[in-house]
Amino acid sequence: MRALITGITGFAGGYLANHLKLLGYEVFGTTSKSINKTSRISLVNQWTTEKEIIDLLNEIQPDYVYHLAGLSNVKESWDDKISVVSTNTNLTIKLLEAARKSSVSNHVKILTVGSSEEYGRVADPTVPINEGDALQPMNPYGVSKAAVSYLAKQYFTAYGLKVIHARSFNHIGPGQRLGFVVSDFASQIVQIEHKQQEKILRVGNLDAKRDFTDVRDIVRAYHLLLESDACGEIFNVCSGKPISISDLIQKLLELSTVEIELQLDQSRMRPNDIPFYIGNNNKLKELTGWRPQIAVETTLLDVLEYLRNI
Ligand code: GDD
Repeated sequence: MRALITGITGFAGGYLANHLKLLGYEVFGTTSKSINKTSRISLVNQWTTEKEIIDLLNEIQPDYVYHLAGLSNVKESWDDKISVVSTNTNLTIKLLEAARKSSVSNHVKILTVGSSEEYGRVADPTVPINEGDALQPMNPYGVSKAAVSYLAKQYFTAYGLKVIHARSFNHIGPGQRLGFVVSDFASQIVQIEHKQQEKILRVGNLDAKRDFTDVRDIVRAYHLLLESDACGEIFNVCSGKPISISDLIQKLLELSTVEIELQLDQSRMRPNDIPFYIGNNNKLKELTGWRPQIAVETTLLDVLEYLRNI
């Protein structure tokens, strides 16, 4: 079996590639980064035109395409709205258009990756969000991912392309770049441990609650979804268990021995921040049997250990 991952050098892309390799897949990837020639994975440069993607699909003949390429940072989407909306929608249209015109159009299965940020403002935030709930995105990133979900649906209904859309909630793990809450906090803690920073942890909004899942559990779900026959469907990928950002800090601090003072950093605040996200993952669990296996405490320790050793 052959899999193509767009954005293979991104955070989830690397974990997905390893997971598929272990399952025996021949894995191909696209990336906008420079290519490591010693990689076990066959890499091609990030495609720019529809024709290039068609050629790539015709050449590779993938069974599965995981569309992970795109911009994923909510805070940064406020600073460059045009970039996030145009990049995420353009890449998706190019891929889906190319797929339908390629020689694999009849059988390739494609996973588009969206976000809980598609839902945005929900009526009662304490009730787990279902896939059928209204989309009311509250930031440019959420708008871009809502558009991706509509495009996925359109290509399924209009052209019969076998597309499944994942609405992933927050995913965390070793190797996530700065700009996401766990890596932002953990990297400061490790710098304080290494005496490279004064004993002050700079934080943004601590009142928000989010539904965190380890990235290694997330990529297992992606693969199980493409193995299913649920084309045209949308699935939440989440733990179903909310944690407040202040509890997250406490858990991280319990895994460190240094005394740390918290300080609000206004530059980490956003024009608006959804106060509470919790997803209902029953649809995914019932279809695939997937369950998250890695406790958040384990992930946080793995993130700290990774940062302590680089
Ligand atoms: N990044 C960051 N850094 N967030 C902070 C900080 C900080 O120093 N302090 C508090 N926060 C709060 C944010 O305001 C937000 O409420 C929460 O921590 C999580 O922030 P992020 O980790 O940046 O994630 P996100 O929820 O905005 O978006 C992530 O999850 C989405 C799915 O729910 C991203 O991974 C998206 O790509 C993903 O789609």
